[in-house]
This record gives sequence, C-alpha cells and structure tokens, in this order.
Amino acid sequence: MAGRIPQYFIDDILDRVDIVEVIDRRVSLKKAGRNYSACCPFHNEKTPSFSVNPDKQFYYCFGCGAGGNSIGFIMDYENLDFPAAVESLASVAGLEVPREAGNSAEQRQRKSESQGLYDTLAWAAKHFQLQLRQHSNKSQAIDYLKHRGLSGEVARDFGIGYAPPGWDHLLNAIPSGEQRARQRQQLETCGMLVKKDSGDYYDRFRERIIFPIRDNRGRVIAFGGRVLNDDKPKYLNSPETPVFSKQRELYGLFEARKANRQLDYILMVEGYMDVVSLVQFGITNAVATLGTASSIFHLEKIFRHSSKLVVCFDGDAAGKKAAARLLETALPAMTDGREICFLFLPDGDDPDTFVRQHGKVAFGAQVDKAMPLEGFLIETASEGISLDSDAGKAKLSQRALPLIQQLPHGVFKQLMLRKLASITGADIHLLESQAAKISAAKTQHQTAVSNSKSEPQTKSSAIQAPQEDTQVAIGLEKTPMVWAIALLLHYPQLANQHSLPRCIEHFDSEEARLLQLLMSHIKAQSQTVTTSQLLGYWHGTAESAALNHCASRHKTPESITVAEQEFADILTSIERQFARHQRSQLVAELKQKPLSELSEEEKNTLKSIKMPNAKKDI
Ligand code: UTP
Ligand code: MN
Repeated sequence: MAGRIPQYFIDDILDRVDIVEVIDRRVSLKKAGRNYSACCPFHNEKTPSFSVNPDKQFYYCFGCGAGGNSIGFIMDYENLDFPAAVESLASVAGLEVPREAGNSAEQRQRKSESQGLYDTLAWAAKHFQLQLRQHSNKSQAIDYLKHRGLSGEVARDFGIGYAPPGWDHLLNAIPSGEQRARQRQQLETCGMLVKKDSGDYYDRFRERIIFPIRDNRGRVIAFGGRVLNDDKPKYLNSPETPVFSKQRELYGLFEARKANRQLDYILMVEGYMDVVSLVQFGITNAVATLGTASSIFHLEKIFRHSSKLVVCFDGDAAGKKAAARLLETALPAMTDGREICFLFLPDGDDPDTFVRQHGKVAFGAQVDKAMPLEGFLIETASEGISLDSDAGKAKLSQRALPLIQQLPHGVFKQLMLRKLASITGADIHLLESQAAKISAAKTQHQTAVSNSKSEPQTKSSAIQAPQEDTQVAIGLEKTPMVWAIALLLHYPQLANQHSLPRCIEHFDSEEARLLQLLMSHIKAQSQTVTTSQLLGYWHGTAESAALNHCASRHKTPESITVAEQEFADILTSIERQFARHQRSQLVAELKQKPLSELSEEEKNTLKSIKMPNAKKDI
C-alpha cells in the first residue's frame, strides 16, 4: 500500500461522516435526550449503557468503557486496522483516500529525524556484525556461539553480532568528520551510548553477543545483548526510544514473516536464544517478547499476521504464573476466529534446550498437545477444587465466570458459557445472568485512572461536576485534574490559552500524567482539534479508556466562558494543593528535629507556616 493517509483527510472524513449514522447502520440506536443509546456491541448486556454523542461525534460505553470516534468504532466493530477503517468510511462518503509521500515540512522533518535514527541503528548493527569477524577478541564470541550450537547461517540471518569489551568501542568507531557530534547524539537517543554527568559518553553494550531487534519492515530498532559468562544482567536490552517500545515489539516477527508466506500459527517463546535455536531446527514461526510480560499490543500484533497463537511456557511454577497472566491479558482480545493454545514444556526445559535435545518432530508433538485457551481457563479456575461435589462445581463457576465475562461478545463466549454449564450442570441462562451481574459489580469498582499514590488529594474540590445519573459508574473520581482533562477534551482550545503550573511534574498520579500528555499534544497541533480527533488520536492506546471515560462521564459546561473560568480555577487549585503539600512536608520534617537544633530561620519558617492556618493544613 502507498504512504500515510494525510492528517487533513482524516480530519475531513471525521467532519463529513456522522457518527450516529455510522453506528446506527450497524447497531440500532435510540434517541435518549441529546444523545443516542443502545445495548453495547462490545460486551453482553441487557440494559443499554452504550451512548453516542452527536455534538462531539464520539461514543462511549458506561458498562465496558469502550469508546472513540467513528474511525475507532469501525476499527473495533469490524476488526479493521486504521487505514482500512478510513477506507471503509471514505468509500461510503464517496471519497478517494489520498496517500502522501510526505509533503508537509513538519512531516518531512519528523521523517528525516527518525530516518537518521534508523540509519544510525543500521550502522551500529553492521558494526557489531563486523566485530564478529574482525575484532581481536572475536574467537571468544565465536566459541560462545558454537558452544550454544548456533550455526553461522542462522547467526547471519538474524544479524547476530558482537560488542567487544571496553567502554568506548562503539563511541570510537563513529567516523570522524562534521557528522560526528550529530551521530553521537543520535546514538544516545537510540540508547546505544549513555551520557555521563560530565557530558562524556560510554557504550551501553560491552562484551556481549548482540541480537538486533527488527521492526515489521526489517529495520533495526533496538538490540538485546547477552553476556558470554555468568555476569549479571544476563541480557541487556535497549531502553525505550522514539523508534522502540518493548510493549509493542516482538523479536523474530520480521524473520518469521520473511521465512513463511503464510503463518498458520505463531509460536511465542520467552527468549532470543529460543527463537534462533528453533529456526536452526527448522521451526521458523517463533517470536519472543523482550523481557516483559506479553501485552495486549503484542497479541494484537500477532493476530494481524495469524489467527492462531501458541504460547510456550516453562513447566515450572513461574511458567504457570506467566500463563495465568497471559490468559487475563488475552481474554478481551479473543474475538471469534482467534485461537490461543498454551504449551507447557517439561520442567527444566526451555524451547532452546528442548529442541536441541529432542529435535523438531518432538517439538512439533508438544505443539500439537498444547492446551486450547478454553481448556486452560477451566483448568485454572478449577485448580484445587473437586468437581465431584456440587459445592465444588459452584465454586468453579464462581471463578470461571469473571474470566468468561471478559471475552468479547460472540460465539466463542457463548460456547464457553455452554461448556461451563455442561461441566457444572447449571442452567446456561442462570450462568449468563450471573455473568452479567459480575461484570456490573466489577465495573463499579474498576478505576480507569488510578488515583495518586503519594500526593494528597484535595478533599473537597472547589469545582463540583454535575452528577451523571446514568447506569454503571466506572469510578473515575472527579478530582480537579480529572475535571481538567474533561474540560480539555471538550474545549481543546483551552490548551492554547493556558499553561499547566510547573509543579504538575511533581504529581505522581495517572491523572497528572494524562493532563500533561493532553496539554502538550493539543499545544503541538498547528490547528484547533476536536474532541473526536483527540479521542481518535489515542484510540487503541493505554490512555484511551481513561480519556474516553473523562470525555463522557462528566457533563462539561455548555459555554466556553464558563469552561475557561473553571479551567483557570483548577490550575490555581493544583498550585495551591502542591504548596500545601510542600508546607506540610516541611513542617513534618522540622518537627522531627529537636527544637534546640533548629536554626532561627527554621523556627521562623515553622511559625509562619503553622500559625495562620494550622488546622486546615495538617
Ligand atoms: P531467560 O533467562 O529465560 O534466558 O530469559 P534464555 O532465553 O533462556 O537465555 P539463555 O538460554 O540463557 O541465553 C528470557 C528472556 O528474558 C529477557 C531476555 O529477553 C531473554 O531472552 N531477559 C532475561 C532480560 O531482558 N534480562 C535478563 O537479565 C534476563
Ligand atoms: Mn535458555
């Protein structure tokens, strides 16, 4: 497919289509006041908690928290990626989707910046590969790879390299010339060089076997490095950079796609060595996460390339725990047609050791034996329960229902309920209604945005948002910051008239982070954005649920003048809250000291702070 869809076109299409029409064509909507409502298509419910706002052109479900603009709706409802959803809306509107080769100056610049990083990373990868052939210590690395049984062919295909010992090997390899400073800076940005306080740089990867991590298009975006001995950490990975996010990337996916025209299934393993060993034994569909638990992004990415995933776990307790965590992550992603199987290797083995010892056929037999998600779900839920008694069966359903409830609405969910009904002998309608109850209770307690851990919350906010009278509350407390986020989402222009107080950086809460994120995003736009564009921008990201929630739960003022006043008040109240917090900390600190040790100045501080409002402040 051609280049990116230009932003103006995305804005244009959002302008032209009416979200009420878009959704109504798929889910029948009823007018409810100024909004429209329906039973949510993304979770199972009997009373409607799905609401569409025609003014702001977005939808939101008070039951499950789904939300977004027209494009997001099509993406989720029809299971399309972003460009395909835009294509679908455009074709109905009779528009041709333009593609750009990068024409605006800003886009060109952004492109050339990341292009610079990709070039630098490619240069570093080549450099490491060269060291495996040239460096005076190369035999140490080659011996290690041989000892691990790795063939030269696989090492080549995966671009495996060697970072020699020393703090400045890569640093000194930068070609001299006027580009040197720039390249050093880029190497720092992509995590290859670390800057000391003194301003000097040193190499991040030293005396390690280097595994380049490639993106979908085969560009090197990061590295993993393994020690050659028992030093710690065993593996060192690139940090998060503008071109690399651990939560989203999978080692080996590019190589797997290259080796297979069609991936009947994808095998997910834990380590770099597992991926390369499997390939060496002819199993070319393995990918690995990068030292993190698998995220929903990993799963979505995998499902874009294959409808079946087999996840490989160690047979020990840690493996079981990891599997249980994956189950929780995966449930909401299990739309009909997707399949996940859980493979537990014999205790003590990982895919690398197993395939080397037993070979490809034996590994294949393990894959064939892997347990489908439905079986694993029941197994997990029935752990330690005897199903011979009715009490045991009731307990199983009590544990299994909250899991099943997380599955998206569809045939698979229905089948799971039926399966549970057949195991327990309970009536399926009873189970369904139990499940609905569980989900209602759960959402009531769920906090879409966690409240601050260490900062005090203002107990009574000056601004009281009007109470929503609707169904289930996803408990985002109406703190001033949440209210500020809601105001910004409805009146993005506020961001251009105000700045956040600097103290916001000291707040360690999710609200504060979102507020800053939103402010700086809006400020960075050259034109005013709409609510629906903002929600669209974050659609499918970790922030999406909280933002959708803020946009919908809180009724914002009808007039910009009122909104502006409220917004200004909140900014002041944030500053006050911070000052108050600092003062009480100072008082607490000074109180720790014996009076005799306090300087005159400290005594005066204490007096001036404590006297006027002592009761209110502490
Ligand atoms: P393992 O410790 O299971 O390593 O880590 P492994 O793949 O079996 O490695 P070998 O066989 O000893 O070489 C699995 C994955 O966890 C991440 C890496 O991505 C590794 O491949 N990891 C592990 C780290 O990021 N840091 C570490 O210190 C260890
Ligand atoms: Mn291993």
